[in-house]
Amino acid sequence: MAKSILVTGGAGYIGSHTVLQLLLGGYRTVVVDNLDNSSEISVRRVKELAGDLGKNLLFHKVDLRDKQALEKVFASTPFDTVIHFAGLKAVGESVQKPLLYYDNNLIGTITLLEVMAAHGCKKLVFSSSATVYGWPKEVPCTEEFPLSAANPYGRTKLFIEEICRDTYRSDSEWKIILLRYFNPVGAHHSGYIGEDPRGIPNNLMPFVQQVAVGRRPALTVFGTDYATKDGTGVRDYIHVVDLADGHIAALRKLDAAGIGCEVYNLGTGKGTSVLEMVAAFEKASGKKIPLVMSARRPGDAEIVYASTHKAEKELNWKAKYGIEEMCRDQWNWASKNPYGYEPPSSK
Ligand code: NAD
Ligand code: UFG
Repeated sequence: MAKSILVTGGAGYIGSHTVLQLLLGGYRTVVVDNLDNSSEISVRRVKELAGDLGKNLLFHKVDLRDKQALEKVFASTPFDTVIHFAGLKAVGESVQKPLLYYDNNLIGTITLLEVMAAHGCKKLVFSSSATVYGWPKEVPCTEEFPLSAANPYGRTKLFIEEICRDTYRSDSEWKIILLRYFNPVGAHHSGYIGEDPRGIPNNLMPFVQQVAVGRRPALTVFGTDYATKDGTGVRDYIHVVDLADGHIAALRKLDAAGIGCEVYNLGTGKGTSVLEMVAAFEKASGKKIPLVMSARRPGDAEIVYASTHKAEKELNWKAKYGIEEMCRDQWNWASKNPYGYEPPSSK
């Protein structure tokens, strides 16, 4: 009998790619999402991409904070594990509206953990972030580095990590994997699903993509005086399909004996500057990206990339794709869906 996995936030960018890999891996998958930052069209497209296995996907439009609605979902299916993506993630907005972020991300997670415990489902994979390393004193970042947060969004990740650790300490039946993602980019190679942020993109590649399709005139490069090869910030970009596969590896690990609450970085271990990323995208797309050189963005770190050792050794997982494939697939998605899932009039 195939295992059933509940995916919170499964209509979103990383969630939709992970749901597809789950279906292709033979899992039954139930998505709950309030569609706050996503479209139900992504769920439909994932179903289509999965072919016959698409019948194993169910969707419920539910807000995690709605305990009664969540209870109903758990009453309808016995879940083996929950993969918890649902949350708000815009750093700038979190500074403007901290209570919204604490309410959505913390209350959402606490409600989820309560309902899981009540239904005897005590296996969880949680989306944490490299943001918890703050401005690291050295690189690559290992999982043992000291943790900090520069904004309310980052603090929700730190707090949820702690909530998970406390939950496990209180009841050793829990098995929890905290995955710290570095910078997910790219799209499924079909170009049928991808990232579709609402409003002005905060992140580099969605912005570059919108410049390439003519929605924005130029990319503002935040900071040209960092101590890096070309003065621009360095990050660890990871193909979203590699990231999705990291979740399948985490699910397998949860079935191993002796796992309690563990944390793993998901990155490639390679650092790429903003200008290198733009050059790779220009090559992949054949489009010129006009640049406006600007001051540093407050709160940004200089160089962040992952130590991948622990995930390689213990999850038996390693990223396969490089920045060429990331940019190729990002452009394939962007050129086929210049306005994302829905035309501008319907947004
Ligand atoms: P996303 O916004 O595309 O997906 C998140 C989904 O959660 C959305 O579909 C949204 O509608 C849903 N959601 C939000 N609050 C909800 C609630 N209360 N109830 C039900 N659904 C809710 O974001 P993503 O890029 O796919 O990120 C997924 C997770 O990974 C998030 O937790 C994010 O913080 C984390 N993460 C993302 C990145 C990144 O750069 N994309 C990096 C590190 C960590
Ligand atoms: N950048 C620009 N111009 C832009 C956007 C970004 O020059 O318009 C630069 C940034 O200064 C940085 C690099 O591109 O040097 C990457 O910036 P992103 O905003 O794409 O990514 P960050 O690493 O700053 O942060 C992102 C998420 C965080 C998450 C972190 C690690 O926003 O929430 O990745 O996963 F925690």
